[in-house]
Amino acid sequence: MLEKIKQRKAVQLLVFSKSQLIGISDINMMIEATAHQGVFGITIAKDYRGQGIGKKLMEWILKEAQTKLPQLRIITLGVFGNNPRAYQMYKKFGFQEFGRLPEGILHKGNYIDHIYMYKKVNN
Ligand SMILES: CC(C)(COP(=O)(O)OP(=O)(O)OC[C@H]1O[C@@H](n2cnc3c(N)ncnc32)[C@H](O)[C@@H]1OP(=O)(O)O)[C@@H](O)C(=O)NCCC(=O)NCCS
Repeated sequence: MLEKIKQRKAVQLLVFSKSQLIGISDINMMIEATAHQGVFGITIAKDYRGQGIGKKLMEWILKEAQTKLPQLRIITLGVFGNNPRAYQMYKKFGFQEFGRLPEGILHKGNYIDHIYMYKKVNN
């Protein structure tokens, strides 16, 4: 990851509470014909969710991506159909759904939709 960050092919931010890692978010650039696309990911530790940390972290990683990833034009992400919290947050940040694979995810024994979203980046 450090090598990718050095090469301007990824950004990553970590959130700590004292010395404990409680949040992580990154955007990883794809390759070749899709080298202008970055794939977004985020996770906040269970006990720290719903306190505004995810929103802040997302704001920061998008800013970081704007300044550090020169090839970035489109950010994509995948979200489980049973995750309204993440879905709502992504919509607030301007992500739009562009596809949904019915029953694309097997989660705890149930098949649920896999939702794909994207956002264009202004250069
Ligand atoms: C999704 C996740 C990153 C959001 O981070 P968070 O710190 O919990 O979220 P925040 O407190 O910053 O809230 C951000 C937004 O999420 C939504 N949200 C938060 N709590 C919610 C709830 N209980 N129900 C529905 N939406 C909710 C709201 O849109 C909220 O924005 P608002 O405060 O302006 O209303 C975090 O909950 C998480 O890591 N979940 C598990 C892993 C995961 O789902 N990762 C994403 C995979 S695609």
